[in-house]
Amino acid sequence: MARAGLSWYHNTVVDAVTVKKLGPGKALRDEVSVPGDKSISHRALIMGAMAQGSTRIEGLSLAEDVGATWQCLRELGVNIVSRCRMTTVSGRGWRGLAQPKKTLEAGNSGTTARLLMGLIAANPVAATISGDASLNRRPMGRVAQPLRRMGAIIDMAPGDLAPVEVRGAALAGIDHVSPIPSAQVKSAVLIAGVQALGDTSVSEPALSRDHTERMLPVFGIPVRRQGLEAAIKGGLRMSPALMTVPGDLSCAAFWIVAAALAPGSLVRLPGVGTNPTRAGFLEVLKRMGAQFSAQAADLGPDAGYEPAADIEARSSALTATDIQPAEVPALIDEVPILALAACLAKGVSRFRGLGELRHKESNRLEGLAGLLRALGAKAEASGDDLVIEGVSRLTGARVSAGGDHRLAMTAMIAGLVAEGETVVEDASTAAASYPGFTEDLRKLGGL
Ligand code: S3P
Repeated sequence: MARAGLSWYHNTVVDAVTVKKLGPGKALRDEVSVPGDKSISHRALIMGAMAQGSTRIEGLSLAEDVGATWQCLRELGVNIVSRCRMTTVSGRGWRGLAQPKKTLEAGNSGTTARLLMGLIAANPVAATISGDASLNRRPMGRVAQPLRRMGAIIDMAPGDLAPVEVRGAALAGIDHVSPIPSAQVKSAVLIAGVQALGDTSVSEPALSRDHTERMLPVFGIPVRRQGLEAAIKGGLRMSPALMTVPGDLSCAAFWIVAAALAPGSLVRLPGVGTNPTRAGFLEVLKRMGAQFSAQAADLGPDAGYEPAADIEARSSALTATDIQPAEVPALIDEVPILALAACLAKGVSRFRGLGELRHKESNRLEGLAGLLRALGAKAEASGDDLVIEGVSRLTGARVSAGGDHRLAMTAMIAGLVAEGETVVEDASTAAASYPGFTEDLRKLGGL
């Protein structure tokens, strides 16, 4: 089932997937090369488009969400070609985007929509950005508001939703104090700020993923960091870059938990990004008793802007944990799979401060609790918290992920360890971030 406007990577797409519990004595014992990091891939394409000349990116994610950024940039006149694992972006340089002829379709991808708002705001073009039903329900005012202060003209659908019309202008730098830790807001403002007059800074209440701050210097733009504030000078030209994208920890997370839960397992995951602003998941899983190792990996001369590791994960007896609000930004996308781990851990786990999950690809807080309960877990969402009491076993069921890729993959991993069969109705949504997920699941014996 293709999403509107995106026909790019649908050759591997399936709909309902039936996952079987791993047979008696069967364990996960394999190596999985997860896709390139999705967050880094979006940024590499966008910054490549802003630089003057050819940027070469090795290991770009082929996720549908990244495909959406690619297609939108092509509408904006940016030539991008890919051969084997190498993608070349022919950047259009300083405020060099072309006027698009049609609506930019961001599909399911919030990162595409929000980062492109920052890019377009500073260019002499007018563009409408729209998405699928899920994206068009997600808040856009958090990005529109600072970009308007910089001088862009932005119209949104009622309720500050997409479709969003952005009319770019000559921008002025601002100091933005973001009320929420959000890498999408921070990145949109910094991307606009590069092409604005004067300095731009963004501060946030807790540090969100810092991929933008790490990547801007690779393109020749220095970033000053002071505590929770990142600042840049406007008006500097970006130079093209050579870069290698590490594997996506948010994809690897599914196999790390699968290995922990399936007795006798040992899964190897080479070359996975371990940026500390993303790696909160590993910290939490470690204190739950999960056994895994992470050996620093050298992915070559063009990979030094982000840390990476070869991860080996094995089966482990897990105990419950409490997750505090301050920990959430560094594990925001891993809450679903961590919650599954908590379902089979001994004791009661409390995940606190998950309010932002209501604004993801679905209302992920309610959807997650409902999904886990459908599989026999004891999980309750209350206010911004999720409370999970560990059970000794889960039971397979027919479930829907509500169109949310991370819930779909969590349900499929649950199916590996739940008694009986688990049918995930909208399994195809996994392709938003992990296009080869069901193939890797088959390789590991779950299909
Ligand atoms: C992302 C930032 C996070 C994350 C999303 C990807 C990014 O969202 O949940 O999957 O690439 O910048 P917020 O910045 O809105 O918290």
